[in-house]
This record gives sequence, structure tokens and C-alpha cells, in this order.
Amino acid sequence: MKAALYPGTFDPVTNGHIDIAVRASRIFPKVIAVVAENPAKEPLFSADERVELAKESFKEVPQIEVIKYSGLLVNCLREYNASVLIRGLRALSDFEYEFQMAFTNRNLLASCETVFLMPSAKYTYLSSTMVKQIAQLKGDITAFVPDCVRLKIEEKYRKI
Ligand code: PNS
Repeated sequence: MKAALYPGTFDPVTNGHIDIAVRASRIFPKVIAVVAENPAKEPLFSADERVELAKESFKEVPQIEVIKYSGLLVNCLREYNASVLIRGLRALSDFEYEFQMAFTNRNLLASCETVFLMPSAKYTYLSSTMVKQIAQLKGDITAFVPDCVRLKIEEKYRKI
């Protein structure tokens, strides 16, 4: 079986992302976390910072690699001779967006399959956006992100 790509903005990685990566690594022999540059969004962290944080956050996940990618995901699949994208599905509200992306990717590359994994129930409502908002308002994010991420967000908001 080939590698599966786990794409995202990862701005920044949360415990929910780690949970999904662990689940994916139990199914696929290799998982490549693809940190998308995503110019459409205005991330808090630069692409290189997100890659560094993802590497640190995913270091305990077996057989995972972290890369940065700025093009179409289907081209990334081609480059890695892969066909599977992993996406986390938390609540019904994720579905519309995920459905659109999965079909767009399949239209661009017929062999592309998107595999949706559900995180542990405790991460169902966790998102990078929420984490950033809580941190910006000086709330405690210890339960939501790994320590390396918490320290970087706190440092970031001290400077802003
Ligand atoms: O973590 P996110 O922000 O939900 O991830 C979104 C992501 C990175 C998967 C999406 O923006 C994306 O696929 N970017 C790469 C560009 C691309 O391939 N677009 C066409 C498919 S929608």
C-alpha cells in the first residue's frame, strides 16, 4: 500500500490533528502531512513555522513525514505516486466544504480518494481558529495543543 497524504493549513497543529494523524498511521504504511501554503488564508504562522511546529507535534506519530507544498494537492499526489487524501471530519458543519473539496480533487484526478477519519469525541469542536482566539484573549490552551505549539502561540501574541 502506498503513502496517504494528510493535507491542511495546520495554523497551527492541534491535538485534534495529532489524533487524526495517529489514526491514519494505523491504516497506512506511510503518512505525509502536507502543510499547504494556502495564499487564500492569512495564517498566523508562516509556512516554515507551521512545518517546524508540525514536525515537532507529529514526532511521536509512527511513519509520518511532514512537507510543505504550494501547489494543487492532486499534483502532490502525483509526485508521491499516491492516491489517498486523509481529512478529519468533526461535525456535520465540516461536511459541505469537505464534500466540495473531495469532488473537486476527484475531478482533477480520477484516482484521488478522500478518506475521512473522525477524531476522538473530545476534539469534535476543536479547531485551530478557536485555539488562536482563546490564546489571543489570554485563555488557557494547554488542553488543546501540544506544548511546543502553546509556547509559540503565546510568544506570537505577546509580540502582536
Ligand atoms: O486545514 P484546512 O485549511 O481545512 O486545509 C485546506 C486545504 C489545505 C486542504 C485546501 O486549501 C487545499 O486543498 N489546498 C491546496 C490547493 C488545492 O489543491 N485546491 C484544490 C482542491 S479544493
